[in-house]
Amino acid sequence: MELERLLRSQGFGSRAECRGLVCTGRVSVEGRVCNDPLAQFEPEGLSFAVDGQPWAYRRFVYLALNKPAGHECSRRPIHYPSVFSLLPIPLVRRGVQAVGRLDADTTGLLLLTDDGAFIHACTSPRRMVPKVYEVSTRHAVDDGQVAALLSGVVLHDESQAIMAAACDRQGERSLRLTVTLGKYHLVKRMVAAAGNRVEALHRVAIGGLALPATLAAGRWTWLEAADLALLAPRSLPG
Ligand code: URA
Repeated sequence: MELERLLRSQGFGSRAECRGLVCTGRVSVEGRVCNDPLAQFEPEGLSFAVDGQPWAYRRFVYLALNKPAGHECSRRPIHYPSVFSLLPIPLVRRGVQAVGRLDADTTGLLLLTDDGAFIHACTSPRRMVPKVYEVSTRHAVDDGQVAALLSGVVLHDESQAIMAAACDRQGERSLRLTVTLGKYHLVKRMVAAAGNRVEALHRVAIGGLALPATLAAGRWTWLEAADLALLAPRSLPG
């Protein structure tokens, strides 16, 4: 692949902008400056640097972000900064999207990718990918609330009861709740329907992929094939 095209595919701007980067000596490939925008490289496994910042060619990117509170998952946020402001510009420019959304006040594991098939597979209701939340509640959690969440609660505007796939009381005012759907305010509405109220919500895992303990709020990390396999073995691409 031509170097300028390769850079474009990785989010470094238009073809003209990428050509400009190469022609001004700002791009090195495998450790050597290359100022020929039409130089051909095999992209798979290629390491390059732009302005000294190292990158590896990736056909698609898959990221885990520890979403902080006070950030919206939209590219055009209204009230708070966007989670995309936490990513390097090339990742935003190559069209990375959030895989489902978390509310502005929800924290924890958010996946992002530019692989549309992956987004579809993760968010399809048929796949029933489990999402695990730590829920802090306003009132003490009682057995009846846990039982209601497990047996199913009927939400406003929904015809069928929605069940938690798992629900464990963690403390007087906290729950660990697993849901397999991805509806608007789902956990908050379920907990309200069970007679309590969510005060704070933190997503700790999606399928078997846990939020890395070392990933501070606001930081992101690459996900590799082994990480993606943990999401839902056999059913997801990547
Ligand atoms: N359920 C909610 O209510 N909010 C979220 O952000 C995620 C799940």
